[in-house]
Amino acid sequence: MPHYLARGAGSEARSARGRATVSGESMRITYLGHAGLRVDGEDLRLLMDPWLSERGAFQAAWFQFPANSHLSRPALLDSDYVTVSHEHLDHMDLSVLSGLGASTTVLIPRYPGSNFRNRLSAAGIRNVQEVPAWSRYPLNERGDWLAFIPEQSPMCHDAAVLVRAGAASLLHCNDARLTAGQARRAVAECGGHVDVLALQMSSATWHPICYEYPPAQIAEISAAKRAAKFKAAGRLASVVRPGLTVPFAGPMCFLDPEIRRHNRWLKAPGLFPDQKQAVDYLRPRLRGQQVALWLPGDMFDPLSGRHVADSLWRDFDFSDCDEYLDAYARARRPEIEAVRSAFPEPGADLRDAFVEHFRRLGELSPYFLERIDMTVRFEVTGAVEGRWDVDLRPEGVRVDLKGRASRPEYRFRLDSRWLAPIVFGQIGWEDLLLSMRFSAWRNPDIYNDYLVGLLKHAEPDALACVEAYERGRTADEKVVVESAGVRYQVSRYCPHAGEDLAMSSTIADGVIRCLGHNLEFDLATGSCLNARCDPLATRTLGPVPRASIDSPELEAFLCRQQMGSLARRALGRPTRARPMFRCRNRGRAWRRGSRESARALAAGAWMSWSRYCSSDCRFRSCSSSRSPQA
Ligand code: FES
Repeated sequence: MPHYLARGAGSEARSARGRATVSGESMRITYLGHAGLRVDGEDLRLLMDPWLSERGAFQAAWFQFPANSHLSRPALLDSDYVTVSHEHLDHMDLSVLSGLGASTTVLIPRYPGSNFRNRLSAAGIRNVQEVPAWSRYPLNERGDWLAFIPEQSPMCHDAAVLVRAGAASLLHCNDARLTAGQARRAVAECGGHVDVLALQMSSATWHPICYEYPPAQIAEISAAKRAAKFKAAGRLASVVRPGLTVPFAGPMCFLDPEIRRHNRWLKAPGLFPDQKQAVDYLRPRLRGQQVALWLPGDMFDPLSGRHVADSLWRDFDFSDCDEYLDAYARARRPEIEAVRSAFPEPGADLRDAFVEHFRRLGELSPYFLERIDMTVRFEVTGAVEGRWDVDLRPEGVRVDLKGRASRPEYRFRLDSRWLAPIVFGQIGWEDLLLSMRFSAWRNPDIYNDYLVGLLKHAEPDALACVEAYERGRTADEKVVVESAGVRYQVSRYCPHAGEDLAMSSTIADGVIRCLGHNLEFDLATGSCLNARCDPLATRTLGPVPRASIDSPELEAFLCRQQMGSLARRALGRPTRARPMFRCRNRGRAWRRGSRESARALAAGAWMSWSRYCSSDCRFRSCSSSRSPQA
């Protein structure tokens, strides 16, 4: 067995128990693998989303990559607070939480539904405190605090955590996709600077790898999703401009022989890039910013910039992991067997439980049923077999255990062993979907957020909150974008979950793709092309006009080589080498950056520009900019 898989011996990080906490104004961050961090400061011992279970997560489908079993549990668990961002089992490790001492407080974000706290309570975790969004939770007498930043839409129960300890700050993003506006606010809450940004860059989704697409299509979608995730992460880091950016919170790896094939997506250009690939992407793009690769047990002091690498990983190489994964799978075989035997084959009562399960789901939200409006087929294999159709329609839910629907629009194929714990209430649908122990098919090939939303939330309060959010939002604020020589005025915020499209979108061939969750909208009609979602408010303004540049608050400089004579005439003065704006508030120049945007600008395109200056005064001082035109 490679020494990386050794249990609990050794280094400084692993034997921290009882040691005096950090003194002074800084904090010491110890990376625990995946999204887990331990933060020590003067009078502060904080654990964040620790995932240490050697049984992995999601019915032994996911394991920490690389393994973190060398870390000493007793040392880590000796803490005052533990944050748990959401109820996915790679963040809510019940084996860790149930081992905490009575004096440790578990802090969770306040979500609209009660599933999260009920699940903790059912596992015997007491001492839990729910913290409202953005509220500063005091961690000690010296003024250290943390705040949860949940995703904007209540459809997504994920939250980042902002920590301020002494003079140091950390934005721990977990799996949350923060909008640019949330990121700016987080920076402002910390006095204008975040020291460490821990950012997820690997997807955690079953689409497309569990879908019955041809292999080439899976590879193509997977590469596109990876690119979008990288781009969104890079943009967020550009907004935050932290002292250090660290990719974390994934990928996972798969050790059960049944699903080990998914490990192929760890390799480029797969959906689950490792931290090394993420670092290689970010470094050349975040000029002037530090980007680091941390491995479990590494420690970092944000104020001094001192990084102490765990010596265990001296010979570890992400690019050569096949042998490592083989050894890891052999080492975890007993745990995988133990988990499988904890989920035995079901009996014939599964059928009635399935009907009852969907009857109950059908009573939860007419709003969701209206928007699902489809027949979902379950092809169940294993000890109990069947072809079961579930009609989820505005008028209600009907289950046909004879599977007579002529044109189901969605189909899941799964083993009854994994269906049983859902319908008998041991696990949730998302635990199964994330386990990737199923295959799926759909026609039309569009994502139905409401189907997944109903299954994953499965409680009236959470669903009602989504309904209220979606019915209450407005599309008042607009941005102008251009594609193929035509301008469109669109609502600035994505109708799905509120991402700022001026910052986090790409545009090509008349389609705007939101980098929040990769939903695509037709610019001419506003309709969502790859999911069931409200349309984007859009208005066609006509062809790109040939007018002069007019930017009242930001002074524009445009590229001599790339803009052509029209732009130079419009500016009426010498131009610089790249598209640039100068902030009149602080006088600092910054440039749009990407060659892509320079090219688009050179071609006379309209661009959507940030409303805020990305210089030090980025928080509102610069007011609005204009879409430059050539
Ligand atoms: S916020 Fe989810 S796709 Fe736009």
